[in-house]
Amino acid sequence: MAVKERDSFKSSLGVIMALIGSAIGLGNLWRFPYLVGTNGGAAFIIIYLLCILFLCMPIMVCEFVIGRRSQANVFGAFKKLAPRTGWKHTGVLAVLTCLTLLSFYVVVGGWTIGYFVKSLRMVFTPQSDFAAEFSNMITSSSESILYTVLFLVINGCVILGGVRKGIERTNKYLMTALAILILFIVIYSMTLPGARKGIDFLFNPDFSKVKFSTVLNALGQGFLSLSIGCGTVITYASYANKKDNLLKTTTITSLSDTVFALLAGMAILPAVFSAGMSPTEGAGLAFISLPYVFSGMPFGALLSIFFYFILFAAALSSSISITEPIVAFVREEFKTSRFKATLQTILITLIFAVLCALSFGVLADFKLFGKTFFDLFDYISSNIFLAICAMFAAVFVGWKIKEEDFYDEITSNGLYKIPRWLLKTLRIFIKYIAPIVVAVIIINSLLGH
Ligand code: ALA
Repeated sequence: MAVKERDSFKSSLGVIMALIGSAIGLGNLWRFPYLVGTNGGAAFIIIYLLCILFLCMPIMVCEFVIGRRSQANVFGAFKKLAPRTGWKHTGVLAVLTCLTLLSFYVVVGGWTIGYFVKSLRMVFTPQSDFAAEFSNMITSSSESILYTVLFLVINGCVILGGVRKGIERTNKYLMTALAILILFIVIYSMTLPGARKGIDFLFNPDFSKVKFSTVLNALGQGFLSLSIGCGTVITYASYANKKDNLLKTTTITSLSDTVFALLAGMAILPAVFSAGMSPTEGAGLAFISLPYVFSGMPFGALLSIFFYFILFAAALSSSISITEPIVAFVREEFKTSRFKATLQTILITLIFAVLCALSFGVLADFKLFGKTFFDLFDYISSNIFLAICAMFAAVFVGWKIKEEDFYDEITSNGLYKIPRWLLKTLRIFIKYIAPIVVAVIIINSLLGH
């Protein structure tokens, strides 16, 4: 069956909302606050902001150029722009990255459903054993598989709706709801007694805590948070209009994602400090510390329902964006329908996701390279694959796409007037700085630093 006309976003706002929806996810709400907590607070934030500005944004521009210029899925994009070369393998790696990323991401997405249900059932009281509650859920095979499957099915349903009716519409609603709810929680959290300590922790830097690993964590978080290196931006950009302002879209997406990460920190850390808990709780911050914090607050039960809904919505809009590159690849390269491609993608992901979901229970002792399936998939995708694909995207645009073609793409063939010095500086970052710095990070990750 021939693939008919390609999908596309209806409006520039649709592209922006979809990219913001992709960017804002568990990375912002679950991972960012605990990375800030375990990497020294404000000093980490400053390094993170530098990574976003000087490395992540230029690489995002590259992915946008590749996607929009080719109007193809991530594999087809490299094949089209560099025919008869080995570059298409970068596309294969990006699809694999999505698959590994998605396999553990949907498990955590499932936890958000579990905690949303628990909040609705009001199971948390100040007397609850919060660590045991979390551990019981993730170690129970039936519960964790049920929530993982549920999350994957919801994800699949949105993808089945297609780019406009599924992805574009869902993101518009979810992102608006997210913005309102998070602002509400920030205001509430900041008015708690003792919240000031949380704000100081977030905004007063202590550079004595900075190590090389802080920089590695900040950059890895930047890639994950902006969904760079997994073909998401390439795929979404391939549905964008040739007249969309590429630099504006990149800037708005990065800015929104960063503001949202900071808001997540301002929602969570003051509440954690106010409850006299430690910000270094790590991954348990969102699922162990926060329920404890909510249980002791007036209107805490309601806040908890809001919070886990936000977490679920953010996880969903991001997981959609990690699924779509695989679906587009299967659909266009194997010439099949969206329905079949989605079904195949969901079924394959399910196999790996179940292995990840069982990593905390019956498969806890089954380890490959010393890691459970969940940890291995997380490590390989977040620390290695994302960075490799991101680096290749920069090298590709910097060295394979001609300078004039690059400028034409960025300015939409002269439609937008962008100062030459800015274009030249961007080109230098893409050609030299980003690939070198990211290569150093990858080597260090592989050496286990
Ligand atoms: N960008 C997504 C997140 O931050 C993957 O969770």
